[in-house]
Amino acid sequence: MAARIITVANQKGGVGKTTTVINLAASLALADRRVITIDIDPQANLTSGLGLKGQAGVAGTIYEALTAATIPDLTQFVLQTNVTGLSLVPADRNLTGAELEMVSLDRRETRLRSLVQQLVDHYDYIFIDTPPSLGLLTLNGLVAAHTVLIPLHSEYFALEGLADLVLTLQRVRAGLNPDLDIEGVLLTMHDGRTNLSQQVSRDIRDFFQEKVFKTIIPRNVRLGEAPSHGLPVILYDVKSRGAEAYIALAKEILGRDSITLRNTEEHI
Ligand SMILES: Nc1ncnc2c1ncn2[C@@H]1O[C@H](COP(=O)(O)OP(=O)(O)OP(=O)(O)O)[C@@H](O)[C@H]1O
Ligand SMILES: [Mg+2]
Repeated sequence: MAARIITVANQKGGVGKTTTVINLAASLALADRRVITIDIDPQANLTSGLGLKGQAGVAGTIYEALTAATIPDLTQFVLQTNVTGLSLVPADRNLTGAELEMVSLDRRETRLRSLVQQLVDHYDYIFIDTPPSLGLLTLNGLVAAHTVLIPLHSEYFALEGLADLVLTLQRVRAGLNPDLDIEGVLLTMHDGRTNLSQQVSRDIRDFFQEKVFKTIIPRNVRLGEAPSHGLPVILYDVKSRGAEAYIALAKEILGRDSITLRNTEEHI
């Protein structure tokens, strides 16, 4: 079966996009799915969080792939991570310039789709991590995807600013990607003890209804620590609440009550 392509997006910064890509992708890889993640954020937090900061594929990073005169072979940009079955197309700071450079290129909104389509027969899941904006890079992510996964920070007035994202999704559906669906809305950094977190989760369920994942990601210090070790939390501390939550999310996405994870000891 061809890969499911999921873009993780929310133009609000620091809501858990990158954390979700890293840990959901790693959980699925440890459940023996073939997974690749693509970093299209100039901050390159996905690349560093997977321990590959400053590294590039044989032909470079996503920057070179997106701005090449002709669409290159994306397999030349792929790196293996320290999780078996989990690969990465890395980014670096150069990507900051890509948004401007791409404006003058033809098919500027569909470049990532053309690149990613080359991978669909080789993976089960493709995750795209986007920057905190609704610019050309995020647009490329939405045009390339089957679905969008929207992380929402439970402790802010999370619905604020969502109107812009919903409008962007409508525009993408009306134009370049009519089949784009919502994979789900994910509540992150949840603290069940605060009234605000509880209120936000009620508001979000009212608004997005069954599109909200049952799994809620708690605020968990291990999730914050793991990236500086270049590891998904499932390898950093598999027993943490953060790891358990992302494994639960992987089950929810696979539509399974249980999944068998390979021994994490083997993968470090
Ligand atoms: N559930 C959590 N509990 C505690 N810390 C978290 C949690 N999720 C993410 N973090 C931390 O919060 C910060 C922001 O998370 P993350 O980088 O995933 O957000 P983002 O939406 O990708 O940000 P940006 O918009 O800048 O790309 C990071 O330092 C991360 O380690
Ligand atoms: Mg990020």
